[in-house]
Amino acid sequence: MKTVSEISELRETVKTWHQQGLTVAFVPTMGNLHDGHISLVTEAHKHADKVVASIFVNPMQFGANEDIDSYPRTMADDQRKLASANTDLLFTPTSEIIYPKGLDKQSYVEVPNVSEGYCGESRPGHFRGVATVVCKLFNLVQPDVACFGLKDYQQVQVIQTMVEDLSMPIKIVPVETMRETSGLALSSRNGYLTEEELKVAPALSQNIQWLAEQIKQDNDFIGLAKKAASYIDNAGLKTDYIHICHARTLQPASEDDHELVILAAAHCGKARLIDNLQVTLT
Ligand code: PAF
Repeated sequence: MKTVSEISELRETVKTWHQQGLTVAFVPTMGNLHDGHISLVTEAHKHADKVVASIFVNPMQFGANEDIDSYPRTMADDQRKLASANTDLLFTPTSEIIYPKGLDKQSYVEVPNVSEGYCGESRPGHFRGVATVVCKLFNLVQPDVACFGLKDYQQVQVIQTMVEDLSMPIKIVPVETMRETSGLALSSRNGYLTEEELKVAPALSQNIQWLAEQIKQDNDFIGLAKKAASYIDNAGLKTDYIHICHARTLQPASEDDHELVILAAAHCGKARLIDNLQVTLT
């Protein structure tokens, strides 16, 4: 696997592939890779001839109260994992390469509606940062396909909406969440959990599951979500939000909606965990 940090080297390699008629799939990451990220690379191989991954801890998507400096950086290990998964090219730009004028002077992409609420409310500016960096990376890599994990369900909707609204010729492939046997969704942030916290963290996915079963029989969505939040809190987590939403618009679900998603986030010690579950009502 070749690793490049310069835009010119990235463009050169991808241009050669495109000239040869080869298709390119892209897996953007912030590093500290786990099996969930590798499943994105595996999926990417099914959709294109070449797979490009990127590792860039994007300062624009971190809030002032979120410590970007302590975000885990494990480059050598990440490179080994990506190489084992047959990644063809790894792009590892610096902040100066992505934002040469600095964050204050950077143009940005704002995706309305789906960016609002849930993680968008708890982390103001987060989705602007995500959309901007993903747009920029898409322009640099010029992929035919890009893979994103469904654990970040709202992020996938933001990116899908950006691609549609701005007519980007890129197919977005959402990839199922990988989980521990306890049900806990794999996340780089699980690394912040102590042994004790690892025992209570699965309460988030377990109560989302419980809620999914309840809403198949009862359409008191708000009341049931409140109950689920109290169960999550009683288990030792601190619920940030839990909502039942329309699966595509992410608006609060109404009685007539059939394709739903339960979106949830909770604090567990130093970690803020997110999870979700899609539910089809018949
Ligand atoms: O999901 C992530 O790791 C990040 O939000 C992404 C998509 C790589 C953008 O920085």
